[in-house]
Amino acid sequence: MAILHQAVVLLGAALCVSAATKPHVIMIMADDMGWDDTSTHGSKSVLTPNLDVLTRSGVSLHRYYTHALCSPARTAVLTGKYAHTVGMQGMPLSNAEERGIPLEERLISQYLQDAGYRTQMVGKWHVGHAFFEQLPTYRGFENHFGVRGGFIDYYEYNAQEQLDGRPVTGLCLFDDLQPDWTTEGYITDVYTEKSTTIIENHNVSEPLYLLLTHHAPHNGNEDASLQAPPEEVRAQRHVELHPRRIFAAMVKKLDDSIGEIVATLEKKGMLENTIITFSTDNGAPTVGLGANSGSNYPLRGVKKSPWEGGIRGNAMIWAGPEVAPGNAWRGKVYDGNMHAADWVPTLLEAIGEKIPAGLDGIPMWSHIIENKPSPRTEIFEIDDYFNHSSVTLGRHKLVKGTIDESLSKHYGEDLRGIIGTPPDYKQKLRDSKAWESLETIGIPLDADVMADRDEAIVTCGNVVPKPCSPSAESWCLYDIIEDPCELRDLSEELPQLAQILLYRLEQEEAKIIPREGQYVADPKSAPKYFNYTWDAYLSVEPYSDSE
Ligand SMILES: *[C@@H]1O[C@H](CO)[C@@H](O)[C@H](O)[C@H]1NC(C)=O
Ligand SMILES: *[C@@H]1O[C@H](CO)[C@@H](O)[C@H](O)[C@H]1NC(C)=O
Ligand SMILES: *[C@@H]1O[C@H](CO)[C@@H](O)[C@H](O)[C@H]1NC(C)=O
Repeated sequence: MAILHQAVVLLGAALCVSAATKPHVIMIMADDMGWDDTSTHGSKSVLTPNLDVLTRSGVSLHRYYTHALCSPARTAVLTGKYAHTVGMQGMPLSNAEERGIPLEERLISQYLQDAGYRTQMVGKWHVGHAFFEQLPTYRGFENHFGVRGGFIDYYEYNAQEQLDGRPVTGLCLFDDLQPDWTTEGYITDVYTEKSTTIIENHNVSEPLYLLLTHHAPHNGNEDASLQAPPEEVRAQRHVELHPRRIFAAMVKKLDDSIGEIVATLEKKGMLENTIITFSTDNGAPTVGLGANSGSNYPLRGVKKSPWEGGIRGNAMIWAGPEVAPGNAWRGKVYDGNMHAADWVPTLLEAIGEKIPAGLDGIPMWSHIIENKPSPRTEIFEIDDYFNHSSVTLGRHKLVKGTIDESLSKHYGEDLRGIIGTPPDYKQKLRDSKAWESLETIGIPLDADVMADRDEAIVTCGNVVPKPCSPSAESWCLYDIIEDPCELRDLSEELPQLAQILLYRLEQEEAKIIPREGQYVADPKSAPKYFNYTWDAYLSVEPYSDSE
């Protein structure tokens, strides 16, 4: 294994180090965006032309897996480890608790800082915020502008939670360690502007790492759950259902952000030597926690479930010609598995750095760029808080434990409704900022080829359904290649195979680091003690304007 890693690292170095500086790395994340919430996967209601131009001139990660919930998924992205091996599985963090990624874990920001990168973060953190040492600026980021917790109002930047049995609210937007009372605007635009300013001010002789984690299209506070500028909602009048129309506008703003980032990199002369990644944190909650009218159709299940709808996510990699020369690798739909935990080693491989020992993640860069079979033959989703788990080994997936029936259905078909003729997709591609920027640096683009997404669209196939709901004592088994929609249970047909998968799951479950107990909201965190902000309540002395 060590020799294999070394060979991969050398190959990565050979691919990349010709450029003057190491490649810039821009990681963009969406929040609660489902499989069917992008035109990359064929959606006609939710259009993402900038993302599609990047994806179709980079590599679409067709079997990208992640954890089913936010804090666990972000833990995997940042640490290169499964959430269950660092105690971050289960219910995402509230603003009123002190859990977080253990301080002894190293994060991608720290690895890249050690490799000489300038490290910047804009957006949502959600992996620990009760005391300073848990915050981005103590964990490898030079600056963090954004929100430390899970969700906010898109205009007011406050979050409402239950504390002592009643709702309380506090501001969540921080500029490094200071609450930000002056910023105004729609949060997606605010993050875009902060990010483009970072790029514009960047010293190009140093490599930049920018992590931009949007809230979109997560819902806001419960009573204002879907928020988008009214003119953007009006521009989505081809979308039939009302909440889906707002949702489409939220994703449109996210897609515009991607276009702005690409255009700014191009104007700054950085794009040729940049890696851009895009991924969602988990599947869409069509129903359940944070329900947002997102859709994983035709996949089964939603966020917070180990069904494909919860864990199979949108993702892509794009790289400039100085990073990955030639065009032969561009426009592929990569059919091999990748997991959120693979970003750390994959990006380290891409920039020619050593892969640290002890990660769950696997370096995927050369496999993806050279379109070789994936070394990731196993995927685990283990949650001993919600008491369910899944293992995918080769083409088979086993799901076991208790999963709410309401999280286990195939949702989203009704969200596809279109009024009249949908917008001209090819024209949208050509009109996008990403198109213009890539054209400027000489990347070949063909809207006819890009608009043909057959390879990227999941269809359920012709399996004869055999329904199955797992329980604490029983499991379901699927051929996930032939049956990506988890319709036909094979556990009775293939009992021995099920035993093998159960055995692998048991072995992996032995590595679980337990969570720090059940969730209890800490009354010390109450925003009223901190001038109505959700501050780092174990580090900051209580303060208030009225005192
Ligand atoms: C830009 O970075 C290079 C390399 O670190 C450094 O030598 C130079 O002084 C920097 N320029 C500015 C304006 O900071
Ligand atoms: C998971 O199982 C444990 C042990 O049986 C139980 O205490 C806990 O309440 C369960 N969790 C959920 C979310 O049902
Ligand atoms: C307290 O909050 C108000 C807004 O409600 C703000 O204007 C003021 O600057 C804050 N005070 C401190 C000390 O942060």
